[in-house]
Amino acid sequence: MGNSIGIVILAAGKGTRMKTDTPKALSVCAGKTLLDYVVSAALKFAKNSSLTAEIGIVVGHRKELLQEWLQTHPEKLLIKTAWQKEQNGTADALKACFNDLPHFWNYEYTLVACADTPLISENEFNELFKVMRENPDLVGVAATFEAATPYGYGRIVQKKIGFKIVEEKDADDNQRKITEVNSAFYILKTTHVKSVLGQISNQNKSGEFYLTDLFQEGFAVQTVKFSSETPFLGINTLEQLANVDKLIRSKKIQKLMIDGVRFLSPDQVYIESDVEIGVGSVIYPGCTFLGQTKIGSSVLIESNCFIKNSSISEDAEILASSYLEGAIVLKNATVGPMARLRPGTEIGPDAKIGNFVEVKKSKLARGAKVSHLSYIGDAEIGEDTNIGCGFVTCNYDGANKHKTIIGSRTFIGSDCQVVAPITIGNDAFIAAGSTITKNIPDGSFGIGRSLQVTKEGAAKKFLKTKKP
Ligand code: UD1
Ligand code: MG
Repeated sequence: MGNSIGIVILAAGKGTRMKTDTPKALSVCAGKTLLDYVVSAALKFAKNSSLTAEIGIVVGHRKELLQEWLQTHPEKLLIKTAWQKEQNGTADALKACFNDLPHFWNYEYTLVACADTPLISENEFNELFKVMRENPDLVGVAATFEAATPYGYGRIVQKKIGFKIVEEKDADDNQRKITEVNSAFYILKTTHVKSVLGQISNQNKSGEFYLTDLFQEGFAVQTVKFSSETPFLGINTLEQLANVDKLIRSKKIQKLMIDGVRFLSPDQVYIESDVEIGVGSVIYPGCTFLGQTKIGSSVLIESNCFIKNSSISEDAEILASSYLEGAIVLKNATVGPMARLRPGTEIGPDAKIGNFVEVKKSKLARGAKVSHLSYIGDAEIGEDTNIGCGFVTCNYDGANKHKTIIGSRTFIGSDCQVVAPITIGNDAFIAAGSTITKNIPDGSFGIGRSLQVTKEGAAKKFLKTKKP
């Protein structure tokens, strides 16, 4: 099939050098798996090129986890998987792809990418493909770069015609000195792959079938040397994972600063790849931003806040040491210091959540206030309602959760409990210290506490007196 490409992503390896049981391709780097990054670069390349393209991921070690990952991917229809039963090397992995997905033989080109290289982008794929297209006699190109530390990479041994790649383990002393190394990103004519792949042997120090043997002296193959090694930084150890994670995060912060976000101490903020922060926002030191968090413009986030999968609208303020997960905070609301918003919470515009307040799966309307030491669970609270200090929604009877509904402009005094399910109307007033178990209609006054007894002069009976 002319003008078409099969993109094969090798992800079957266990990642022995990582020393963990998670398949290496699913290791998380700045909030996304290594595979997420590579697949997203491949999809961008495929969509922006004029080629008919399909992605095949070779899975192996704990393949069910990779298949689960694929089920949640928004572009899963464009992606197939192939199973490499034993991890016998990168050439064996490519074979597994053609075994399980034989129609990949029909694509004019085959692009091979490794799943352990998260900084790769569509630019590298474009550049490789350009060289291939401009030189129709070539049967393959390999992306290479000058490595600051070539240890561990396959070395490029240039020949008069073509080149070969020698792995670290198999290299002699002279070859080890070569600094041009293999990135393990290639584009090949599929006909070339068909004629050579079956002949690759495993007679080398690792006893593995090396994909690098598709490149040999005498073949019409060429290296495409990139000026920076950064896009190709491969992850084989936890230390490399930590270094690349750090690089992705610091690039992200740099970009946000260019876009107008103020970080008082950029090195002391942990931020994952997909987080968005709007212009004019100010971030104090010690904050953590995770997952699909979206922060609008001119938002203030004070020190040591933890914010995960949450959305915060413009002009809101999240004061020091607050913990937000799966929460929505709307325009100009204030949260904290030391507040906790749990999943399913929505804090309305101009609303206020003060210190030591926990809110779970509840919606507070515009201007509602819960300023001190309270628990709001499974509740709806109307506009401009004010809730005093020490309020508790008793939402759980030991077996089931129940809802509390409180209307607008209602006032609840300090130290009250409401036993759910319960509805308190608009413009109601609940006296301090009340335990409310029955619904309170609109405009009503509710009090639920025992009567006070005062015995004049009786205090001395109860006061301790000092013994001489
Ligand atoms: C590979 C290259 C090396 C290159 C380096 C760049 C080979 C033989 N070597 O080495 O020249 O400099 O990448 O980062 O290709 N995989 C499978 N099945 C297997 C083995 C590996 O799917 O049986 C997958 C891994 O999951 C990984 C990729 O192939 O995503 C590369 O394997 P890895 O073990 O990381 O190869 P390197 O030693 O890094
Ligand atoms: Mg590798």
